[in-house]
Amino acid sequence: MTSTQQEIVLDRGNDTNVRVNLHGATVVSWLYLGTELLFVSEKAVYDNKKAIRGGIPVVFPNFGPWDLGPQHGFARTSTWTIEEQPSKLPNGDVWAVLSLEDNEQTRKQWNFKFQLKYLLTLKENSFHMDFKVINCDDKSFSFTCLLHTYFGVPDVRKCKISGLQELTYVDKVASGERFSEAKEQVTISENVDRVYEKTPAYWEHLVTAVNGGYCISLQKHNMPDTVVWNPWIEKAKAMTDFGDDEYLKMLCVEAGYVSEPFTLKAGEIYEGTQVLIALPASDSSL
Ligand code: BG6
Repeated sequence: MTSTQQEIVLDRGNDTNVRVNLHGATVVSWLYLGTELLFVSEKAVYDNKKAIRGGIPVVFPNFGPWDLGPQHGFARTSTWTIEEQPSKLPNGDVWAVLSLEDNEQTRKQWNFKFQLKYLLTLKENSFHMDFKVINCDDKSFSFTCLLHTYFGVPDVRKCKISGLQELTYVDKVASGERFSEAKEQVTISENVDRVYEKTPAYWEHLVTAVNGGYCISLQKHNMPDTVVWNPWIEKAKAMTDFGDDEYLKMLCVEAGYVSEPFTLKAGEIYEGTQVLIALPASDSSL
């Protein structure tokens, strides 16, 4: 991080804290009892222009390539505002609110008035992200959104992801072909880039063998799609802000509203939630 970078810290003490860079409202660290549970590339660029490679960038108003602007939209490359500074509740939980609203730059790409509110709460062994889109315009707009979570893992080949069986997925590696997931637990041993569609409204994925041996329970609401991504060897080499061997150290499991756009009427609010819970290693066989 350079001196021009600004961040907030949600600190519970006990080597448990979350750091959020205002560039993209990117959560760049979740330290739990001294173990870093997120991945950020050693080659990540902090120039307040490029999206930060790792952590949890916010994807809005478009997931993937976009005719009107940069891939994955402008939220991850905009400077967010601190709406509520980190503050501690009597029970020890720490929360903060970041926000982003339309401005000249965003309206040039996407001509709507909107506000994003991002409530972050760090609890004892869990981290809660509550993402709101408010339509401040006098007309409807449609968007896709996603919390692009990069988990830090010692060896991605040992990770298992549950909660995907029987879902239909679009395989971006196989030119967008659709398949039905047969596996109870999905593992990674090659370039994987899949959009799993339409989980139930409240849903849970377990991701095993995260740093420290933790199993992460990813619980989500109103984010009905789940993207699973690992660039593997060749694509890792092609990314300038990602180390050649770092593909083994990360696994993206990304909750969002992406398989079809969400349409929000004038004055209405969309709310999607993601909760990450660190479970002890002994639960990793779940
Ligand atoms: C994933 C997409 O969510 O993000 C992939 O499914 C994409 O297709 C990846 O390669 C990383 O995107 P970016 O823009 O951060 O390099």
